[in-house]
Amino acid sequence: MAKDKVRVGVVGSKFAADFHADSYKRNDKVELVAVAALDGLEEYKAKWGVKDTYKDYKEMLQRDDIDLVSICVPNFLHAQVAIACAAAGKDVICEKPLATNSADAAKAVAACKEAGVKLFYAEDWCFAPSLKRVIEIVKKGGIGDVLYVKAKEVHNGTHSPFAKKKETCGGGSLIHLGIHPVGWALHLLGEEGKNPVVEVIGKTNGGSADNYVHKDNTGEDFGLGIIKFAKGQHAFVEGNYITLGGMDDKIELYGTAGRIAVDLTFGSPVSVYSRPGIDYVIEKTDNTVGWTKPAVDEFFNLGYVEELAYFVDCVAKDEQPFWGVSGDNGLMCLRVIEAMYKSSEEGRTIKLG
Ligand SMILES: NC(=O)c1ccc[n+]([C@@H]2O[C@H](COP(=O)([O-])OP(=O)(O)OC[C@H]3O[C@@H](n4cnc5c(N)ncnc54)[C@H](O)[C@@H]3O)[C@@H](O)[C@H]2O)c1
Repeated sequence: MAKDKVRVGVVGSKFAADFHADSYKRNDKVELVAVAALDGLEEYKAKWGVKDTYKDYKEMLQRDDIDLVSICVPNFLHAQVAIACAAAGKDVICEKPLATNSADAAKAVAACKEAGVKLFYAEDWCFAPSLKRVIEIVKKGGIGDVLYVKAKEVHNGTHSPFAKKKETCGGGSLIHLGIHPVGWALHLLGEEGKNPVVEVIGKTNGGSADNYVHKDNTGEDFGLGIIKFAKGQHAFVEGNYITLGGMDDKIELYGTAGRIAVDLTFGSPVSVYSRPGIDYVIEKTDNTVGWTKPAVDEFFNLGYVEELAYFVDCVAKDEQPFWGVSGDNGLMCLRVIEAMYKSSEEGRTIKLG
């Protein structure tokens, strides 16, 4: 049934919960009614004007007036919160990755399907305005047939203590950052109901003492992957924590009749030279002195604003999400990432049937 207002509850109160609230506050169809988290509740309430706070997310899910839940907690909790949302009859947005492994992700997808609730996989790259333009150009034949996608998300290390541990993250930089290029390549080259991937190769430096920089992270700080698609195209993806100077997201496409290059994070139209330094440049920049390219609206450019508006519209209009942000794609991303880890451990190509 169509709804005028979508009432949202957020689980988590920190980094991701902030950009979800920022996007909801820009949307007059949303009423942000409650937040549940272990810490940071008072700060979140004051910052975003949320009325009710909960220490236990299960208590929040008992409310009848919540339509949609944003899962913004560490990766190891994603599947269990999604399953609890399904049991409570709430539509659910899950931050990436859908779970720490594909078995748990499959359980979350099945629980949501069985309960008849919508599961949105929050791959924000699908809504980054620059990457939407890329898809438009490709669909209109601007570069011919796509042969090869090369994409990365890399920075100098995660802020979240949960993302530093393999058990609570599912791995290291490959699952935590590399999942964005994986998800976007699957969005571009895959389709609903068909297995788009035939082979996967991966290489990571393994975690802990074997890491290049972050010896305290049990997950790797350097990861590479190659995906071969059923129609013959390849994607090369990177996720690492060894990159200084701010979060670097770059995407290249090579086609039979052209090519495209996107600089998602350093492409600001503003150039600043500052001797004292400025307040903020882009995510994970540790130095703002000298020449910088400060983002104009980072949350918008990364896709969060349009992403959350789209999910809210799906709930309001009672529509299912498109393939790139479906639970099924979230699950496929994890099958690919797991195959990359297996390939790295066993030193061989993994076939995905
Ligand atoms: N799409 C993106 O680009 C993007 C960017 C950043 C983070 N994320 C994802 O968002 C999620 C959260 O990341 P973050 O950086 O905000 O994490 P964080 O570590 O900064 O915050 C974790 C939050 O979870 C809460 N929490 C922990 N255990 C809980 C529990 N049992 N019940 C309720 N709340 C609990 C904590 O209170 C805290 O508010 C991660 O899965 C991450 O992958 C996505």
